[in-house]
Parts: sequence; structure tokens; C-alpha cells
Amino acid sequence: MAGMNPRLAFAIVSSACWSAFQHGYNTGVLNAPQAIMSEWLQKEALTGTNVTLPAKDDPKVTTVWSIAVAIYCVGGMIGGVITGVIADRFGRKGGLLLNNGLVFIAAALQGCAKLANSSEMLIVGRLIIGVNSGLNAGLTPMYLAEISPVSLRGSIGTVYQLVITITILLSQVLGLESVLGTDGGWPLLLALAAIPALIQCCTLPLCPESPKYLLLNKGAELHAQRALNWLRGDVAVHAEMEEMHQEAEKNKISKKVTLRELFRNRQLRQPLLIAMVVMVAQQLSGINAVIFFSTDIFQSANLSETQSQYATLGMGAMNVVMTVISLLLVEVAGRKTLLLTGFTGMLFCTVALCVANLYTAHVWVSYVCIALVILFVVMFAVGPGSIPWFLVTELFNQAARPAASSVAVTINWTANFIVGLSFLPLTLILGSNTFVIFAILQFIFILFIAFKVPETKNKTIEEITAMFRQQM
Ligand code: GLC
Repeated sequence: MAGMNPRLAFAIVSSACWSAFQHGYNTGVLNAPQAIMSEWLQKEALTGTNVTLPAKDDPKVTTVWSIAVAIYCVGGMIGGVITGVIADRFGRKGGLLLNNGLVFIAAALQGCAKLANSSEMLIVGRLIIGVNSGLNAGLTPMYLAEISPVSLRGSIGTVYQLVITITILLSQVLGLESVLGTDGGWPLLLALAAIPALIQCCTLPLCPESPKYLLLNKGAELHAQRALNWLRGDVAVHAEMEEMHQEAEKNKISKKVTLRELFRNRQLRQPLLIAMVVMVAQQLSGINAVIFFSTDIFQSANLSETQSQYATLGMGAMNVVMTVISLLLVEVAGRKTLLLTGFTGMLFCTVALCVANLYTAHVWVSYVCIALVILFVVMFAVGPGSIPWFLVTELFNQAARPAASSVAVTINWTANFIVGLSFLPLTLILGSNTFVIFAILQFIFILFIAFKVPETKNKTIEEITAMFRQQM
């Protein structure tokens, strides 16, 4: 790829791989060992449980378990809220490095929870790793956007989601009973998150801070130029420096945008609305209903437990493969086309699933359902999975980017929390008709994207923000 070089690649791996690892791994890690950990909660960690019941039916156990799962998203919301402040104060790279401190604390708490027989340690650990993941979701796409050449910004931005999909899969494989999903193995499974943090602490310091941050926020001309020289592997970075200078000139007039100004400034209203809607759309498409509950869904489509687990792994692998393809397509087809194709495909699968559910008496229908669920995830990976993360960083200039990322990331985790909490209760009331709700929402999002989202491919941030100014 033109514009890619070993140093830039090193900076991408050092930032994105080890931070998106936390986001994906901790999203998936409690999935497989649920049964074994519930037993630990029932028999050892909690008092007042009803040991005559199977752990999964014991109300006290299920309550504590649901809290441990859901509190991760609450942490994500908190991380989102503080993203802007951290990014401005410590820088993008600085913020990412500091953020690893949270991983070490969380890994220690979760890794020792069994030893200490403490469900509280598990829950607090999940909250802290959630804060870490929320921060990563804001800081990493920001760093990636600011170190990328314009023509690769989308592909490089997609790396964040690619690593999420790989690490969700990794957590599911490691969580299998034959690997670490055992009574003695699960503390290690949770503590493993410290390894990528350690790697990041060793490699990211070798990379420069975002040149845009150095010049536009810190006014450190020489440092910014050196950072850019390093990242481009070239001394001729005149054109890019010039571009940044032009933005710096404008920034003098429009200094840092606070959260309050973000909502008040009429010029920012349109990009803010777009950033918020694509984030909500990513989550309310229903993706995590499938990612979290796929094993159940496959079982209700007549697969055995083991078959369902393998089908889940297959689905995860398809998610990875399609995200790689989207990384290659995003600079060719553009963001808007991939978003529209992805959401339209998801709508098709959702409607087909609703229809198929009317004919469950036929055996072959269950196989159609399984195929549709997998295709649903593949369509998500075409664009709705990766694009929202970096689109937000493309819609705002340096002054407004941190505040806007904060809002967008917080909204994403809030929507994630709502789906996680309401999906099972909704299916109890509505059965498979719950998917009708997702279909209606997907349809609304498709219309919004078609009419409101601009194409940002191959445009500088300056050109994109000018486009919004003109629209006004
Ligand atoms: C996106 C979503 C996340 C989901 C993942 C699945 O990163 O934000 O919630 O689990 O995609 O691939």
C-alpha cells in the first residue's frame, strides 16, 4: 500500500493491537466459562445461595453474574466521558500508555478473585477494565486518524475493529473447557489481559506522539516535524506540515471546543448528529444480541451444545475475515457505500429470520436460520462494525475531535449496555419478534445514512469540515 512503511506499521500495531485487545477480549471473555464461574459463585463466593438449584437457576447467582457482565459497559461509558479530557491533557499516546495502569489493576483483581473468594473483586475488576476499554475506544481511533496519511485513514482506522473481532474470537477459544474454561483456569483467563498491556508499555514509548497533537495542541513545531519524519520514514514532509499549519492558523481562532460548546455551536450540530447516530446504529442493529447469545440462538435452532459452540467460533472467524476484506475495500468503495451495504444486508437477514421463525416446524428451516445469523454478522463486518469508530475522528477538526469522540464513545457504550440488558427480557415477552424491533431500527438508520452521511474518503479533515460549513 502506498504510504505504508515499517515504522508506521509498528506505530499502528503498538497502539491499536494492544488497546483494541482489551475491548474485544473483555467483550467475549465471560461467554464460554459462564457455567463454571456461576458454580464458583454459588458454592464458594456468595452466601445465601440455594445450592439445591442448578447454578444457572439460582436467582442470587444470576443477579451477580448479570452485574459482572453488564458493569463492563458502565465502565465503558465512564471511559468515554473522560476520553476528551485525557486526550487533551496527556496526549493520545500518553493517554494510551497511562491507561494500561487500569489493566494491571483489573487483571490483578480478577485474577485473584477466586483465591480471595470474592465476587466483589470480580465485579470491580470488570468495571475498571470497562473504563480502560472505553478510553481505548476513544483514544486509539484518534491516534490512528492523526498519524495516518489521508489516503490510508480508513484502512488504518479499520485496524481497531479488526483487532476487536480477532480478540473476541481468541477469548472464546481460550474460554473453551479444553483450554482455560475450567475451575482452575478461569482466573488465568481473566488475568491474561495484562500481557498485551505489558507489551504496549514496552513498544508504544518507541513511537512518537501524534504530530497533530504536538503542533496544534502543544505548539511544538520541531517535535511535530520529527514525529512526522519518523512516521513517514522520510524527511520530505513539507506538504503535510503545511496542511497542519493551515489548520493551526484556524485553530487559533477556534480554540479547544468544550462539551458545552460542542452542543451549542451550530456549525458542529450536523457532524455531531451523524457521529451520534452511527454509534447508536452500530449497537441498536442488534449485533451484540447475536455475539453474546449466539450459542443459545444456535441451540434453539436444534444444534447440540458442542455444535453450537463451534458454530459460534465459525461465526467469529467470519467476522474477522470480513473485517479484513472491509479494510481493503474502505478506501476504494468509501465509507458511505459500505455502511449502506452492511446495514441493508443486516436488514435483509433480520427480516428473513423473522419470516423463517414462522416455519420452524420444518427441520431445514433451522439450518437456514443458522446461515442467516452468520450472514448477519458478516454484513455487520462489511462496514457498520468498523466505520463508526473512525468516522467520528474524520468529521471534526483538531479543536473539536476529543470532545466529539467523548460523546460518541459514551453513546456507543450506553447503547451497548441497553441492548445487553434488555435483549433477554424482551425475548421473554416478544419471543423471536424481538428481531422485528431491530429490523425497524435498521431501516431508520439506512434512511439516515443515505440522506445525511457525507462521503469522507480521500478528503482532508479541512475539506470535510469545510463541506459542513458550506452546507450551513
Ligand atoms: C463492534 C461493537 C462491539 C461488538 C463488535 C463485534 O466493535 O462496538 O460492541 O461486540 O463490534 O464485532
